[in-house]
Amino acid sequence: MKQNIDWNKLSFHYTETDYVVRASCKDGVWQQPYATTDKTITLHVAATGLQYGQQVFEGLKAFRGADGRVRLFRMRENARRMAHSAEGLLMTPPPEDLFCEAIRLALRKNIDYLPPYETGATLYFRPILVATSHEISVAPGKDCELIVVATPIGAYFPGKFHCTPFIVERHIDRAAPQGTGTWKVGGNYGSSFRATEAAHAQGYDCMFTDAKTHRYIDECSAANFIGIRDLSPTLPSREGESRSQYEYLTPRSTAILPSITNDSLMTLAREMGMKVTRRHIRVEELADMQEAAACGTACVISPIGRVYDPDKDRMYQFGDKPGPILTKLYHALKDIQYGRAEDTHGWCEVVEI
Ligand SMILES: Cc1ncc(COP(=O)(O)O)c(C=O)c1O
Repeated sequence: MKQNIDWNKLSFHYTETDYVVRASCKDGVWQQPYATTDKTITLHVAATGLQYGQQVFEGLKAFRGADGRVRLFRMRENARRMAHSAEGLLMTPPPEDLFCEAIRLALRKNIDYLPPYETGATLYFRPILVATSHEISVAPGKDCELIVVATPIGAYFPGKFHCTPFIVERHIDRAAPQGTGTWKVGGNYGSSFRATEAAHAQGYDCMFTDAKTHRYIDECSAANFIGIRDLSPTLPSREGESRSQYEYLTPRSTAILPSITNDSLMTLAREMGMKVTRRHIRVEELADMQEAAACGTACVISPIGRVYDPDKDRMYQFGDKPGPILTKLYHALKDIQYGRAEDTHGWCEVVEI
């Protein structure tokens, strides 16, 4: 039963809710999802999920809108990304409709934990797919279990929308260029702990570079990177035409997670008249950008104040305050998620409770 929760004191930590939702896949056949109050799982000691990290996960949110309605944001994209990750680890992906049904059930059963609109807090879902078959040789297990954990999390920016400093990492890699980086597998996160903890100890968040050359920006901790460049100095001026145009830059890499937030922001940026470019981005190109940020489900956009490159002893400054372009994009996406702006792309599913 829900105890009194101070919604304003929540952060990105696990707060217990009443139900988890589970569904099993046996011999390639998925069973219907069901809700249970049991927060533990029984796993065979030789389960391949436990031994070989045959496990993938997802992360998405439900929002209580300004109109009181409940919205899930781009849930089908999470279902597709889980399927992509599962196929990468030779697991049987949960069908898209079953995944969505499991999320809706987890939402309805834990609806008391969906924070009120004014708090900026949300109900976060962590669907986990774990291989349960037992096998001692290094081989994939075929059976698996989908588990949807729901937990309320606080507003990412409870006070002011603010900037965070990052440090460039060239000595510890998160994922190999032809490895598991585009899949949301637990192993990628375990292997990033050392770098992110070392960055935190120095007062920064971690900016990973590509594992092959360490010249290009890959990801920002567990978020994609965005840079904003003012193109107006390079554009030919024509009479009567505004010369101001911005470029939205984001890395192309075979080792990063395809962020659903980044995809949404790219669409909004194009609609705002920006040029959107996805390509390899050298660390030194930070000097040509006016704004930079990390983006993902947790924060939407987390503006970067400065980036320190310890190998070159160089600091890239973006200022103490979030820039105007990223601020505009941030509000545009949040307005859709909270039902304050028209959802012209059909990104939100309104769930009847
Ligand atoms: C490594 C990594 N990159 C990027 C993201 C952002 O992805 P999304 O916008 O789908 O949350 C996440 C979060 O899921 C992540 O873990």
